[in-house]
Amino acid sequence: DKNKGWSGRFSEPVDALVKRYTASVMFDKRLAEFDIQGSLAHAGMLAAQGIIAQEDLSAIQRGMAEILEEIRSGDFEWSLDLEDVHLNIEKRLTDKVGDAGKRLHTARSRNDQVATDVRLWLRAAVDDILVLIRELQMSILDLAELHADTLMPGFTHLQVAQPVTFGHHLMAYFEMLKRDAGRLADCRKRINRLPLGAAALAGSGYPVDREMVARTLGFDGVCENSLDAVSDRDFAIEFTAASSLIMTHLSRFSEELILWSSPRFGFVDIADRYCTGSSIMPQKKNPDVPELVRGKTGRVNGHLVALLTLMKGQPLAYNKDNQEDKEGLFDTVDTLIDTLTIYADMLRPPVVENGVVVKAGFKVNKEAMRRAVLEGFATATDLADYLVKKGLPFRDAHEAVARAVRHAESKGCDLADLPWDELRQFSDLVAEDVHAVLTPEGSLASRKHIGGTAPEQVRQAIARAREALKD
Ligand code: ARG
Repeated sequence: DKNKGWSGRFSEPVDALVKRYTASVMFDKRLAEFDIQGSLAHAGMLAAQGIIAQEDLSAIQRGMAEILEEIRSGDFEWSLDLEDVHLNIEKRLTDKVGDAGKRLHTARSRNDQVATDVRLWLRAAVDDILVLIRELQMSILDLAELHADTLMPGFTHLQVAQPVTFGHHLMAYFEMLKRDAGRLADCRKRINRLPLGAAALAGSGYPVDREMVARTLGFDGVCENSLDAVSDRDFAIEFTAASSLIMTHLSRFSEELILWSSPRFGFVDIADRYCTGSSIMPQKKNPDVPELVRGKTGRVNGHLVALLTLMKGQPLAYNKDNQEDKEGLFDTVDTLIDTLTIYADMLRPPVVENGVVVKAGFKVNKEAMRRAVLEGFATATDLADYLVKKGLPFRDAHEAVARAVRHAESKGCDLADLPWDELRQFSDLVAEDVHAVLTPEGSLASRKHIGGTAPEQVRQAIARAREALKD
């Protein structure tokens, strides 16, 4: 078939299965708008440099405008025979405008073309994702603000450790997302370099102006080595690694939501629209969305490993292996966009108008959280610190409090429930003022340095975060 861009050298058509095996148009047609954008920039440069005529450029622009319309309206007919998005569009252009279309590929190869398309596509995706991360961060801030004073147990080893506020706990995720956004913004700088001009691998013999093409496409500059330009996919790997981390953070959050919404914890209630029921057990309300976030994290991690493995054996420069970069990358972006969008909404509190809930939302059971703090000897460290402040070495204080906890446990009560003179049998430094430190509120209030869980600090952290999100 002489439709193809390369069939002249071949004496028989490719095998039907091979055609399907080697084609990528089924998935890379997603790059179409960026492919056209790249082609127009390239053609503009060819004309400016006198490599093609001005009329050819006009014909190419006219043809591409029509093609763009056809693609947007769904009228464009994609053909497997034409292998990939690039050859499909180029063939259509030639059908429309004749020789001018055939001149478009001068000083270009699909190798620098596809690298350019993927970079343009990914740059736009990163920008979308950064907006969504910010939206999720806003949701977290709003929820944290509502719960800057809400007592909950902080855990280590999933055992009650010390009192924290729910707002403080939420702000931990804000911090993770802040670093995630930073990683993406940083990776964007390396995405934003132009491969075009590298041609197949060695550069072009035509007097190309790569800087001009870079400017037209909004790149910060050109890829500085032609071999690297066509074969590098580390920008995609980096992006996927950053995506894996985002998913990993949301997977940890999800794990907590799953635990907290189980009746054993009963800390939170996720709105019905994010849960599903069971086809056999009528009472069930399952936290499907967080579970799927946790599950889909595996899928994105898989894409990262696939991309790393795709690269590791490739000699310079371009190899067809690289065609396999796209599906995992596309799926990573799709998964991330859906996950972030859903998460930002899932955390919004119910909308109440005139005392009536008009939209369900994320509910927090403060009582259950508080009860869990009181059941877990969460202020044992505070009692030890109290003794230290009265002069006891920390190790001795630790020992004395451990015995007091054992005693309270055998009586089935909390440390705060023991009268001070009963606590005194574990250290004669205990005085009447001990109860101030045994309350969870006292424990919270004492952790008032930057990064601590004191409600006043949590509110300051939220204020700083809001300020930082402004720019
Ligand atoms: N579809 C190919 C890809 O995604 C385009 C580049 C093909 N280049 C080539 N020399 N076969 O990588």
